[in-house]
Amino acid sequence: MTKASELENNKSEVYGSRENWPPYTYRDYPDIKPETYKAFMEFLNTENTSGRLMELQPWISLCDSKCAFCYFPTTPTTKVQIEQYLSMLKKELAMYASTKYVKTSVFDEIVLGGGTPSVLSAEQMIDLIDFCKENFNINKEYFIKISGSSKTLALKKLDKLAEYGVFQVDMGAQTFDDKLRKMLCLPDSAADVEAAIKHARKLGLCVCVDIMYNLPGQTMESWENTLKKTIELDAEVDAYSLHVDPGTLLEKMIKNGTSPPQGDAEHEKQLHIKAHEILTEAGYKAVGHDRYSRVEWHMRENCLNGWPWGGILTTGAGCFMGYLQKFSYSNIENINEYMETVAVGKLPIHRLSESTTEDMMRRTMTRLYLLLPVSKKEFMEKFGTTPEKVFPKQLEKLKNQGLIEIDEQEIRLTKKGELWKGNIAWEFAPKSS
Ligand SMILES: C[S@@+](CC[C@H](N)C(=O)[O-])C[C@H]1O[C@@H](n2cnc3c(N)ncnc32)[C@H](O)[C@@H]1O
Repeated sequence: MTKASELENNKSEVYGSRENWPPYTYRDYPDIKPETYKAFMEFLNTENTSGRLMELQPWISLCDSKCAFCYFPTTPTTKVQIEQYLSMLKKELAMYASTKYVKTSVFDEIVLGGGTPSVLSAEQMIDLIDFCKENFNINKEYFIKISGSSKTLALKKLDKLAEYGVFQVDMGAQTFDDKLRKMLCLPDSAADVEAAIKHARKLGLCVCVDIMYNLPGQTMESWENTLKKTIELDAEVDAYSLHVDPGTLLEKMIKNGTSPPQGDAEHEKQLHIKAHEILTEAGYKAVGHDRYSRVEWHMRENCLNGWPWGGILTTGAGCFMGYLQKFSYSNIENINEYMETVAVGKLPIHRLSESTTEDMMRRTMTRLYLLLPVSKKEFMEKFGTTPEKVFPKQLEKLKNQGLIEIDEQEIRLTKKGELWKGNIAWEFAPKSS
């Protein structure tokens, strides 16, 4: 039986609808207080003994247009002095680089995120990456990733980035259906996206596309066509289920009837299953949050496999994926406030969460959400106890439902569990105990 048909055969309802996000995301972090800022600064003064390689992720929180669904905190390029922003971004990076924790850390990924980093010129992106290389310990084997839209990734820009040694370009393709693209205010056409991907692949760059399902008005056929086009272009995939966020243009459009609503939970599940089926049959493997990959490197990315002990050092206005072991943080979203804070020599953190040991145990269990096993040996080394002793009810329930397997070494999801990984992660959130 293929992996895909195993998943198909497990369509029986376990939860009413699929959760797409786990607990402990940035929206739950408390606002920063003087005492948590102090605790974080003290932590940054300690040595990093985790033994994990980390990711360095400066955000270019700028876009030249706003997609209707996008909840990322970004500023239009017309409303900011880009050079001034880059200089503050470097200043923030330098503040981290001067700490003991970062001086004793090694990074194996430099990722320009955002936002749309490709709104910068190739020279600006390369200058920022050079700055990172000069100021941080970079592992012998390391990778550079840049995200961008086909609109701002002029072919010449791609040539320069490939020549410099960029490994991967992440492209927000979203859908290859032009009717949907127009409705979602995507600035380029499916043909533009295709041309940029083809050019990048010809240059030997790895391309990872963000594609989305359960878009308003998206049929199964449209989704299948987007998946097939992605495979044909030999791209890696981040397949996201659309979340209609409060305050987005799309939310307003759905409310005022200019956009149809999203499909229901069953439609969403079928679209998810279809993606899993088509992609696994084309040789992709599900990894991490929402990725399907045929590139060996993605299977062993340290910042993923090291969760929650490794780290992503993220910087820039509104960045929200930062975590350094028990500390997780997001930055000030307003770009002017961000720059003013950095200018006076303060870390521009808006929200900061310091996990207790109990929270770290719960976060360790969310490795299941990332399709990673929970090693019993490591759990014992970190906490002096076993997952079964800490979470007896949850593990028993999930095992009886056929969602997880437990052996002497580890706890892992079953094929059936993969479909419900978000819901499974929530079983370990504080409210469930
Ligand atoms: C900050 S964007 C980076 C894309 C980048 N701006 C580009 O031009 O390629 C990261 C990705 O998050 C996903 N995303 C944004 N809003 C989302 C939402 N409301 N629900 C689900 N995924 C979303 C999109 O697929 C998007 O490409």
